[in-house]
Amino acid sequence: MRFDLIAADDQDGKALRGLGTYGFINGANGFVVGALGAGKQNLEEYGYRMEQIVLSATDMGLGTCWLGGTFTKSTFARKIALKGAESMPAILAFGLIDDETQARSGALRLRVGGDKRLSWQTLFYEEGFDSLLSREKAGEYEPALEMVRIAPSASNKQPWRIVQTDQGFHFFLQRTKGYRSIMTRLVNIDDMQRLDMGIAMCHFELTAHQLGLKGLWGLQDHKVELPDDLTEYTITWIKDLE
Ligand SMILES: Cc1cc2nc3c(=O)[nH]c(=O)nc-3n(C[C@H](O)[C@H](O)[C@H](O)COP(=O)(O)O)c2cc1C
Repeated sequence: MRFDLIAADDQDGKALRGLGTYGFINGANGFVVGALGAGKQNLEEYGYRMEQIVLSATDMGLGTCWLGGTFTKSTFARKIALKGAESMPAILAFGLIDDETQARSGALRLRVGGDKRLSWQTLFYEEGFDSLLSREKAGEYEPALEMVRIAPSASNKQPWRIVQTDQGFHFFLQRTKGYRSIMTRLVNIDDMQRLDMGIAMCHFELTAHQLGLKGLWGLQDHKVELPDDLTEYTITWIKDLE
């Protein structure tokens, strides 16, 4: 996987149209583009790495917007010279924020509910999907889960669900109903929800590290019964491993 930073040029606005992105990007100063090779859980990793870039840019005071879409054959892809099996599942627009208050309360963001997030009770469980996880029971991991809760996601669907057990935290993707069939073809949302899982992992891990909590990612025999056929297992944060 590789990423590149490119300065915006006059043609980019035009190039963005028709690439399956939604929303409007005006006056971006630049873009982060990426090239992704084939591999199991490659989209999750792309999401994870790109979100690290988002957070670094945010730390510098820049505004960012994830743009998911069909970039593989776009002028953006040409700028990083995609090779054979490589794809470009999303890019990042960034720039100086003119007016932060206005940016956060703009009509489009409010209309798509971009400022809203699902509740803790919808997202986090204990032992299985029929028992809710309280903030108290999450204990020292409460801030890490909260940072997942407020993370950005494609169409703000927040498809992550997390089950805490003695082992650690099992991450599941609950796909948005209907997206697989209709939206997939339009905006590749099917893949984008896998990027979202990487974003959730990034927020969780960075917060855990900041709090001095140890753990590693791994695939586990989680024994959690899936609530429906839209839900699939992604990965586990195995507590206390180094
Ligand atoms: C994988 C991914 C793809 C996205 N694609 C777009 C996009 O094409 N156009 C857009 O305006 N916003 C896009 N977004 C931004 C989300 O809509 C936004 O993060 C979400 O609505 C939450 O709003 P917030 O980030 O302002 O809190 C995308 C976000 C993610 C994570």
